[in-house]
Amino acid sequence: MLGSLLQWPDFSVRAQQPEWMDTELVSQADFTRCLDDLAVVNRLTRAAPPTLAFLARLTAGWPAGSVLRLADIGYGRGDMLRRVHRWAVARGFRPELTGVDLNPRSRVAAAAITPAGMGIGWHEGDLFDWQPEARPHVVISALFAHHLDDAGVRAFLRWMEATATDGWFVNDLHRHCFAWGGFRLLSTLAGWHRFVRHDGPLSVRRAFVADEWRAMLADAGLTADVRWHLPFRLCVGRVKR
Ligand SMILES: C[S@@+](CC[C@H](N)C(=O)[O-])C[C@H]1O[C@@H](n2cnc3c(N)ncnc32)[C@H](O)[C@@H]1O
Repeated sequence: MLGSLLQWPDFSVRAQQPEWMDTELVSQADFTRCLDDLAVVNRLTRAAPPTLAFLARLTAGWPAGSVLRLADIGYGRGDMLRRVHRWAVARGFRPELTGVDLNPRSRVAAAAITPAGMGIGWHEGDLFDWQPEARPHVVISALFAHHLDDAGVRAFLRWMEATATDGWFVNDLHRHCFAWGGFRLLSTLAGWHRFVRHDGPLSVRRAFVADEWRAMLADAGLTADVRWHLPFRLCVGRVKR
């Protein structure tokens, strides 16, 4: 184990290897176990606060009773959408939430643990094929952008800008050796699902540094905040008005 923990990759460029989660076909029960462990990782790494803080900025001044139409891309088990629902209701908004995810097993896992009263729509398919009935105010994603290659990320930025009326937020990882090493050690000791043990450190290596986001935003002619959040989340947010 020590030998494999000491292998040191190149952090100067994004890794290109695909994640097992995207390529291995496993049973629903196996995939759900992976998402359950990912939910633990998200709780430990405080995934939700950066997204909720962005939504607070975006909705500042909105009167109680306003509809908040939001889409979460690559929702996985849907935890972020349920957090957003509770957050929105607590602020007196009327959330209309949709998740878009390529993997049919995500929809099964998310729908099974979501109260029907939340009325969350689970759309199955590639985000670029999704045709919303009404444009969302905001598009969010978490641990999704690094699944795309560079051209895909640029297309995703343009797509979010064209799709969301009020703004968008990308919650992703910072490509840094500490994040990679720390997660590798933690996931091995915790014995999480093999996808999480393999894909977690690889996700860090597939992720971005701030200058890469700034360059892609400049290419797309967009201005957005690039912010680091403890521990090792690098998030990009744009409020249009
Ligand atoms: C690492 S999971 C993130 C799940 C969740 N957002 C979280 O933070 O735990 C990435 C998700 O993106 C989905 N995904 C990958 N490519 C996609 C695409 N082109 N369109 C929609 N969803 C996609 C995968 O199926 C997977 O559920």
